[in-house]
Amino acid sequence: MTDQTAVLRDVRRGMIPAHIYNDSETFALEKERLFGRAWLFVAHESEIPAPGDYVVRRVLEDSFIVTRDESGEIRAHFNMCLHRGMQVCRAEMGNASHFRCPYHGWSYRNDGRIVGLPFHQDAYGGEAGFRRKGQRLLPAPNLATYNGMIFISLDPDAPPLEDFLGDFRFYLDYYTRQSPSGIELRGPQRWRIKANWKIGAENFAGDMYHTPQTHTSVVEIGLFREPKAEKRKDGATYWAGNGGGTTYKLPPGDLDERLRYVGYPQEMIDRMKAAWSPQQSQVIGRDGFMISAASLFPNLSLVHNWPRVADSEAVLPFISIRQWQPISENETEVLSWFAVDAEAPEEFKALSYKAYLMCFGSTGMFEQDDVENWVSLTNTAAGSMARRLLLNSRMGLLEDGVQVSPTLTPDEFAGPGTARTGYSEYNQRELLNRWADHLERPQPRAATVEVGTGHGPDSCDAEPAGTDTAPRRSEGDP
Ligand code: FES
Ligand code: FE
Repeated sequence: MTDQTAVLRDVRRGMIPAHIYNDSETFALEKERLFGRAWLFVAHESEIPAPGDYVVRRVLEDSFIVTRDESGEIRAHFNMCLHRGMQVCRAEMGNASHFRCPYHGWSYRNDGRIVGLPFHQDAYGGEAGFRRKGQRLLPAPNLATYNGMIFISLDPDAPPLEDFLGDFRFYLDYYTRQSPSGIELRGPQRWRIKANWKIGAENFAGDMYHTPQTHTSVVEIGLFREPKAEKRKDGATYWAGNGGGTTYKLPPGDLDERLRYVGYPQEMIDRMKAAWSPQQSQVIGRDGFMISAASLFPNLSLVHNWPRVADSEAVLPFISIRQWQPISENETEVLSWFAVDAEAPEEFKALSYKAYLMCFGSTGMFEQDDVENWVSLTNTAAGSMARRLLLNSRMGLLEDGVQVSPTLTPDEFAGPGTARTGYSEYNQRELLNRWADHLERPQPRAATVEVGTGHGPDSCDAEPAGTDTAPRRSEGDP
């Protein structure tokens, strides 16, 4: 048995017990206390634009149908039939007015209500034996959106999403609101890596230190305009709310010049200026920090970069959203979306997609460099020796706690939260502190729901249609 109190205490002082990157006991706690509580990204509204559109997404083992119902409301139904527990929808995405369970044929409207129960009278004696009224697929306990990003929480008592995101919303806008129309997503590409989920989240949150070493070859072949990876340390890292990220320091110029420098056409720049607050524009225009990678606790990361996509000086920016979906303590499914401003010119969208694939698609050059490290780290963390090792994650701090580089003032960095230049592990520590906060709290309470007895959920105000007839449009399970 691991002494979890000691583990959390060490994590809080920036000393990481190496085994937390491959430990079944830790993973069991994460499942229960962290993924059972935190707000988790499941989809973007642009993936389900029309009534009936749906995607199926998971929170660890829990499958959810994230759908837009006939009235346009976004819902997340637990993808388990109320009868014998079969997975109701087995397609990954589609459009359906109803979902019919493949096992015995119960069917549900896309707002979750039961609509068809074969042989209801013969098998159950009708409503007297099994009440359909008020029965619906279990909804995610909490659902909320920000800039079209759909988040759910399995904790019925979760704080509002806005509070959870806090000032990180300021930074989320750079990725997800470059115009009033917001972004559209393509993907996700999915692949599995034999690495612990926390490593990627920590890396994207603040690891500018790995670029000169891990990504040397990418710099050498000229994928970036900047010939020296060491330039990375001139950027600032910031932390706000439950997320944080890295930036690049840009050459002198105003907002327009700096956004052009990373490859944005003027018409997109004009829309960004209209969409962003003066403070958001200042971070780039006045202070010269271009938003790059970031992580939102616990397992969502965002990327903004601007590689050369052709043998010319021209660079092209791209945005990617990715989720580190844990499969086990030593395996992670990566879901990676390409994101682009919905109003961007078609030519820009095509080239930006190419830039994304080159860098961070499943075969992207950065992707391959990074994952090699993370798999190796995870393997090594499984052994007995790793249990004797406390990794030093205190970069940026002297032993007496004094910061190596001072915190930037609001005159130097206009964004909220705390920002610093130079290499450091502040953000990784912030992320793991939140991890510790969650792990030390007991599992969130949740009521059980009884099906068909009249003690079930009665949030549904309308009668089910009460027919055993076939759905009027396509079904979720083709
Ligand atoms: Fe779904 Fe029986 S398990 S209808
Ligand atoms: Fe990397």
